[in-house]
Amino acid sequence: MTAATPIVVLASGRGSNFDAIVAAIRADKLNAEICAVISDKADAAVLAKAKAVGIPAIALPVSEKQKSLGLADRRKSYDETLIKAIKVFSPRFLVMAGYMRVASSVLIESFRSVRGYTRIINIHPSLLPSFPGTNSYAQAYAHGAKITGVTVHLVEVDVDSGPICAQEAFSIADCKSAAEVEMRGLEVEHRLYPATLSWLLAERFELETRVQDKIRRLSVRPR
Ligand code: GRF
Repeated sequence: MTAATPIVVLASGRGSNFDAIVAAIRADKLNAEICAVISDKADAAVLAKAKAVGIPAIALPVSEKQKSLGLADRRKSYDETLIKAIKVFSPRFLVMAGYMRVASSVLIESFRSVRGYTRIINIHPSLLPSFPGTNSYAQAYAHGAKITGVTVHLVEVDVDSGPICAQEAFSIADCKSAAEVEMRGLEVEHRLYPATLSWLLAERFELETRVQDKIRRLSVRPR
């Protein structure tokens, strides 16, 4: 058995995806070690969950000084502090699980591999590039979409635009509320995220560059 891949989880909220990752590791379905959970929200439920299973849990809220900065400087300054906190644990990958901050290029470049991809992974609750940003399940419901889905992707500077690694679609044609869409989506997330992490963290994938309208994009698929 190869050594477990060390990861740091970044999360801002309740941490149901964190739970799913922990469960997959315990069930030997995911060869990873969560070295720490870091949250920008001091009261995030995910921190208590991490502590309860003996994983270092770090609250790292935006400081008053950072709040006084303009948006770009604030993101950069926060990420510089975050990088210092992360590096203590020497993770190979950062795994975002309901992390509500936009990553700046400082953070992204500090996890760039020599092959060009970033070792930062995110799960997004829609079939990207549809419904980027926040409240994607609610957006899909409000638009009357008949299907939506979940995307696991690598993180790049443009929000929700990095290389797509895995997607799963599901029907919402019969959903009566955004909450119902979310419930269905979370079930998919909790299965798809650990399954995708199992080959992503082992770096068992092929990369291909695709160009359209002069925009170059990396595409990732399992080997
Ligand atoms: C999930 O829907 C995830 O896709 C999105 O934020 C939500 C986080 O849920 N990015 P949780 O904190 O993992 O329960």
